[in-house]
Amino acid sequence: MFRTNTCGELRMENVGQQVTLAGWVQRVRRMGGMVFVDLRDRYGITQVVFLSDDNAELTEQANHLGREYVVQVKGRVAERTAKNPNMPTGDIEIMASEFTVLNPSEVPPFTIEDESDGGDDLRMRYRYLDLRRNPVRRNLELRHRMTMEVRRYLDSKGFLEIETPMLVGSTPEGARDFVVPSRMNPGQFYALPQSPQTLKQLLMVSGMDRYFQIVKCFRDEDLRADRQPEFTQIDCEMSFIEQNDVIELFEGMAKHLFKVIRGIEINEPFLRMTWADAMKYYGSDKPDLRFDMRFVELMHVLKGHGFSVFDNAAYIGGICAKGAATYTRKQLDALTEYVKRPQVGAKGMVYARVEADGNVKSSVDKFYSQDVLRQMAAAMNAEPGDLILILSGDDAMRTRKQLCELRLEVARQLGLRDKNKFACLWVVDFPMFEWSDEENRLMAMHHPFTHPKDEDIPLLDTDPAAVRADAYDMVINGVEVGGGSIRIHDSKLQAKMFEILGFTPERAQEQFGFLMNAFKFGAPPHGGLAYGLDRWVSLFAGLDSIRDCIAFPKNNSGRDVMLDAPAALDQKQLDELNLVVDLPKE
Ligand code: AMO
Repeated sequence: MFRTNTCGELRMENVGQQVTLAGWVQRVRRMGGMVFVDLRDRYGITQVVFLSDDNAELTEQANHLGREYVVQVKGRVAERTAKNPNMPTGDIEIMASEFTVLNPSEVPPFTIEDESDGGDDLRMRYRYLDLRRNPVRRNLELRHRMTMEVRRYLDSKGFLEIETPMLVGSTPEGARDFVVPSRMNPGQFYALPQSPQTLKQLLMVSGMDRYFQIVKCFRDEDLRADRQPEFTQIDCEMSFIEQNDVIELFEGMAKHLFKVIRGIEINEPFLRMTWADAMKYYGSDKPDLRFDMRFVELMHVLKGHGFSVFDNAAYIGGICAKGAATYTRKQLDALTEYVKRPQVGAKGMVYARVEADGNVKSSVDKFYSQDVLRQMAAAMNAEPGDLILILSGDDAMRTRKQLCELRLEVARQLGLRDKNKFACLWVVDFPMFEWSDEENRLMAMHHPFTHPKDEDIPLLDTDPAAVRADAYDMVINGVEVGGGSIRIHDSKLQAKMFEILGFTPERAQEQFGFLMNAFKFGAPPHGGLAYGLDRWVSLFAGLDSIRDCIAFPKNNSGRDVMLDAPAALDQKQLDELNLVVDLPKE
């Protein structure tokens, strides 16, 4: 037998047993006539002891084991004299009688410990070594358990797991595609799916009724902490349902995951907020509701008192940071600098402190009487000890987004973004369209297959920008963990949607004819949702970036530094694919 036990398994009840372990050398220590070797595998670490008095030669050899050598050890389990309560195997050790080096190792480029000395780039280059570290390995274990629970839950609700192709056609709506040239079809390209959206709808036309897939999706977009060019969706679709059915079923799944993975029982329904309210009160379609600080509009109180910044503003809004009146001038200046950074883009910030006697001291005292300032504090429900922060601007939506950044930053500073607290929310009633300056036309906010709200259908002809959709996102702690919609299942309505999106009938037919044709053959009412698996795992693991729960992620430039991909093709391969690379001159 290669090994009788793993390195995480042995306990007091095994004392006296002869065992064989195999694993990696974590550490070697010599103490007098003894050599201690910590042997590690996925399951844990076991201390192995070599005694000079028992076998001087073997002990000397053990002393020369290097870090990360792969070894097999035989010996007897013994009770430790100095127990280590911090290790599950800390009560025992192995008194070694034999060992074999299965494979030596070069000195690893960084220490394989929970806290590594390796920088990001180095750890990514040697990701297989990084994955030996407990924190990273634990994230992959968590990911495994979560996908298992997702499968169990969806199977219990009658969902079928069906695979859809990875080589599909390019779709113009949405993000940029990753494309793949076809050798057999010269000059033609597949695209990797941004999501299996249209295919899962076709499966509904096929009568599959309840579909899911844990599926890779590919989007060529700018990367952020919660975005990877390839990521994994828990993609679902259902027939003969209404919005509420979808919401309830997937809220059930979220609660199931919270319970079995994090041991958190959530009994009440998740909060639901319209997109319009989310934007109005939090300046974001994914508000972080672990803390309140909702926006209060202050136009009626602060406009018209001679302070030209506010007098000329299209929007003035404030947030109230409870108990933060202790903020120093220096801290407030730093916050002002924060909102003035190009990434936020505000011109400045006004602040006011509510003092113990109820008086309000503001940075614009010379323009406002105490009376007006007190009115403002009252409008914000601010109490003595609170700090009020105000932004204004000539574009209400833009200013709200800036105020949103300020709200998040202040909450971070006040320690309100606790990773062990979860605030779950459905954002509903998204607008059907949003205006794109780049394209100079309306674009679908979710995607062009989303059903408009029945009561808003007449507006499609008169005021399309005002149409709301049967679309919903699940947001947890300010992260969009999933989104979906009820779909159009009527080929005429679908054709109209493409028309509003600026497609000619010919182009709509060329690109989405397969779907509109399918709708002519008995498409059931249907809808669904996709969860972002990477985001769920990083939320449950308390990670700052989804990269840490992906075995082999890409870096911020979309590169795999370990595989050194992407890379140029050799000429033979280019010729076979009829490709000519024409790079702009430097
Ligand atoms: P959507 O585009 O909202 O919807 O994507 C669904 C969920 O996938 C996750 N996600 C990402 N995760 C990591 N990196 C990315 N680049 C990335 N992009 C998206 C998010 C998001 O909520 N077909 C529709 C779903 C539907 O309507 O059923 C879709 O793809 O958590």
